[in-house]
Amino acid sequence: MSIADQIRDLEKTAKQEWDSASAADRAQMKVRYLGKKSPLNEILRGLKDLPETERREVGALANQVRDALTVLFESQDGSGDDALSAKFDFTLPGRPAPRGVRHLITRTMEEVVEIFYGMGFEVADGPEIESDYYNFGALNFPPDHPARDMQDTFFVSDEYLLRTHTSPVQVRTFENRRPPVRILAPGRVYRSEAINARSYCVFHQIEGFFVDTDVSFADLKGVLAAFAQEYFGQDVKLRFRPSYFPFTEPSTEVDISCYLCKGKGCNICKHEGWLEILGAGMIHPNVFAAVDYDPNTFSGYAFGMGVERITMLKHGINDIRLLYENDLRFLKQF
Ligand code: DAH
Repeated sequence: MSIADQIRDLEKTAKQEWDSASAADRAQMKVRYLGKKSPLNEILRGLKDLPETERREVGALANQVRDALTVLFESQDGSGDDALSAKFDFTLPGRPAPRGVRHLITRTMEEVVEIFYGMGFEVADGPEIESDYYNFGALNFPPDHPARDMQDTFFVSDEYLLRTHTSPVQVRTFENRRPPVRILAPGRVYRSEAINARSYCVFHQIEGFFVDTDVSFADLKGVLAAFAQEYFGQDVKLRFRPSYFPFTEPSTEVDISCYLCKGKGCNICKHEGWLEILGAGMIHPNVFAAVDYDPNTFSGYAFGMGVERITMLKHGINDIRLLYENDLRFLKQF
């Protein structure tokens, strides 16, 4: 009988025996047919002495029969799981499950909050559907101010709208608290703008404000410089340009020296050497009047920055849409 026939014969005998065997007999069949001293194992061990072509053929058959018998012996003896273990190696190390990370925008907000937290700021938030009064009126926007125009603001009704900035959190806070108040308010804002590389219809801002007796513009400068150096790097310089916002007087827009060219001029800063990062100023007496703070007793500063903007500047991202498309190839880089 050829070796191949011997193997087939073994399989047949084993199967027949299994069918008529008692449970006790079945229990020791595995050792007898597949154990170290079994004929099948003998054949497998003798493979190396066979000529190449025969070795491959016989080897394949022997392995196949060994697997079939293993499944047979382990499947029908009442312990179903053993049939699985014949096919799967449960001792192999597992493949790690892919795990997500927080979005870059979330991480920027956490980072900024952390920096201001270290300077004594608390965190507050407000509703994204806001009334005209909190978004504009109480912030000293005249009734005909262009920012109220349908083109910039998503109106929900005559009275309600999607907030266009985080500044309404100032008013809501002042209504409920007496100075000193030192608050940071990160959140989502909406503007009816065309979507392109530089603007999106929804984005994030971080509002900060501090009201107490004797708060000065110098305090504002100190806090913003400390923030910018912590976030962008110790050698960053600040530039304050005069500007206008209805809710601050005086108002300023703040630039940082370009982190890339160090102020010499490059593509990122459009050869200006400076990058705008936020708007700020001393809170307008009319805002205080709206919330019953006495402007002769209290003074305060406020600032607001675009989260997408500082994120893009810091990480050299040139298209805001990348932050909203959720392309993993982009997100995984951070
Ligand atoms: N709310 C302004 C905007 O959305 C940003 C801003 C400017 C906030 C000056 C402030 C501020 O608190 O003082 O454009």
